[in-house]
Amino acid sequence: MEPAAFWQAAAPGWIRHADRHDVRARPLGEVALRALAVRPGERVLDVGCGCGGTTAELAAAAGPAGAAVGVDLSVAMIDAARARFPGPRFVAADIEAVDAVPGGPFDAAYSRMVLMLLADPVAGCATVRRCLRPGGRLAATVFRAGPGNAWLPAAMLGAAPHLGALPPLPVGAEPGPFALADPERIARVLAAAGFTDVAAEPHDVVMTAPDDPDDVAEWLIELGPAGAPYRQATPDAQAAARGGAARLLARFREPGTGYRIPSALWLVTARTAGPA
Ligand SMILES: C[S@@+](CC[C@H](N)C(=O)[O-])C[C@H]1O[C@@H](n2cnc3c(N)ncnc32)[C@H](O)[C@@H]1O
Repeated sequence: MEPAAFWQAAAPGWIRHADRHDVRARPLGEVALRALAVRPGERVLDVGCGCGGTTAELAAAAGPAGAAVGVDLSVAMIDAARARFPGPRFVAADIEAVDAVPGGPFDAAYSRMVLMLLADPVAGCATVRRCLRPGGRLAATVFRAGPGNAWLPAAMLGAAPHLGALPPLPVGAEPGPFALADPERIARVLAAAGFTDVAAEPHDVVMTAPDDPDDVAEWLIELGPAGAPYRQATPDAQAAARGGAARLLARFREPGTGYRIPSALWLVTARTAGPA
């Protein structure tokens, strides 16, 4: 499935869960926020900003003398981001297809869980590099290999028997959650895109969510490839899909306390050539 079609179909779920996702998914990008350490007055680009929560955080760090620009392929998510956060600038564009994102040159670029989803990651990362000033810095997160991220297939596999056909699963380096799980590929892609000082550092994080199995199941179903078939299903099939996902997610639940969902990431850092 083409990424543009996938994200157009996925957007309603991301928009619907945007507020809870901002809180629950924060650990997926926190290490990159810390590594980037945006200073007041800096200009920052948020690559694949989704519904804009991380762009708003970057804008707060950059302060009134700086700026944050969020770019995303999904027009619907960019519209949602503009409605949710009036401060930052949001641009609907394919990072792989544009020459540059307006609002640059940027001092820093941030990206949470996007680079492995690009059809041509070298082209996308080369655009990011062109948007940065000389000596500009990149900090991004991508998933490490599957076993550290059991929650990803759990929601999909639990829901799938109750839903219509899901899109084909990615193979090899095709865009998907684990396309940059190999740190050597990360190094190759960013070097080919013109970055220097590329590093990938492993981090294990934990997402937390309230003790509401139905709600947690729906949030995770709607973020992934089962989201579009879920929205087309009957209410009975949707309830069965939530039940199936909740059963496979139960190992992350402590009844009465809530969910603790481990996730294994790479923190990817790099710079553009030139003085820092
Ligand atoms: C897994 S979501 C992550 C969204 C957000 N960064 C977050 O962590 O909540 C991936 C995002 O990347 C966007 N995306 C995928 N391919 C893109 C491209 N070529 N150019 C710009 N955005 C893209 C999708 O539309 C989607 O919003």
